[in-house]
Amino acid sequence: MSTVVLVYSGGLDTSVCIPLMREEYGFDHIITVTVDVGQPAEDIRQAEERAKTLGTEHYTVDARAEFVENYCWLAVRANGDYQGYPISTSIARPLIALKAVEVARRAGAQAYAHGCTGKGNDQFRIEYIMRTLTPEMQIIAPMREGRRLPDGRREPWTRSEEIEYANAHGLNIPQTKDRIWSIDENLWGRSIEGGRLEEPDYAPPEEIFQWTRSLAETPDEPRLLTIGFENGAPVSLDGERMSGLELVTALNKIAGEHGVGRVDIMEDRMLGLKVRENYECPAAVVILAAHRALEALVSTQAELKFKAMVDREWGELAYKGLWFDPLKEDLEAFINKIQERVTGTVTMRLAKGSAVVVGRASEWALYNEDLASFDSKTFDQSESVGMVKTHGLQSRMYWSLRHRKG
Ligand code: ARG
Repeated sequence: MSTVVLVYSGGLDTSVCIPLMREEYGFDHIITVTVDVGQPAEDIRQAEERAKTLGTEHYTVDARAEFVENYCWLAVRANGDYQGYPISTSIARPLIALKAVEVARRAGAQAYAHGCTGKGNDQFRIEYIMRTLTPEMQIIAPMREGRRLPDGRREPWTRSEEIEYANAHGLNIPQTKDRIWSIDENLWGRSIEGGRLEEPDYAPPEEIFQWTRSLAETPDEPRLLTIGFENGAPVSLDGERMSGLELVTALNKIAGEHGVGRVDIMEDRMLGLKVRENYECPAAVVILAAHRALEALVSTQAELKFKAMVDREWGELAYKGLWFDPLKEDLEAFINKIQERVTGTVTMRLAKGSAVVVGRASEWALYNEDLASFDSKTFDQSESVGMVKTHGLQSRMYWSLRHRKG
């Protein structure tokens, strides 16, 4: 028996992969794995239903709690960002691939299949995990390989060809003109691309947003909320301790209602393509802003400056899906150490699309009221005189030389 494990979203591309595995790639045992990282429940249900129709051995793996605790929280500690948005798709891919690897090992499978195209980033992220953990396994990417023509050549699938092929195998997918957007969704963010959105100067229509209200529909009354952190990760909301999953779910809703979390950027993909991307990530935007505010309170100036570099490197490795890269581990050793003091609370005000830090407190605060306040007597101001005189000494020597030389 030849067994293939398909990373299955339940969408059109991966559904087409199922009959293809039998007809073109010759597998007689097809296992589909759908990993729940917080995509709509309807997507999960659809995957289960289609797997049944297409006759696969199907598994749904609920990885939501693990995703938040081990992936999102790591991204928080590292201020996980790529070119100005909180990375979300990229941090879910390693977990999804890991779950596929677990299933494949248990089943003694010979191959993996995934629905990534040859243009995007996900092929890199998913295959890296598979190759690292199970180098002996074959990897098949039917969407990247394209449709086989009668003369043996291959060409990219068109949407209507896919629908026709899927329906010929028992699915019932309507040929509609909608569903123009390509959407990827998990607890940390929602990405919308495709259609006219690809034009960099096309303003995103309101209909692409599902987690965030338009400014016109946000409440007039601002919402104050307090996030508690321990070792750089959120643990409570308004004083109430809750699990990571509860906290992210609650914050996505609250911040989304206030229109917080929309990001519209140009993004440089791994292959060099510049793409226009829209994101909704209310919880991530709020938590990351709060986390940075707390770091600014407890870390030294030198630590903050150095960590900004570490964070940027980490964000790039995570974006590329190099989840087990030794440099990533090294950076995390530093990150986890420095987060030992990132414990405290941050209060934010959410209103009309913005999330603003209005207060922060920590037992590790490097702040002394007496030293900083203007009317203090503790700090002898006359002691500054000597320091001011030597400030910029070399810089002033340079200018006196220039003046002398004319
Ligand atoms: N460009 C983002 C990334 O590489 C998101 C891609 C999500 N895919 C989508 N079909 N919307 O992480």
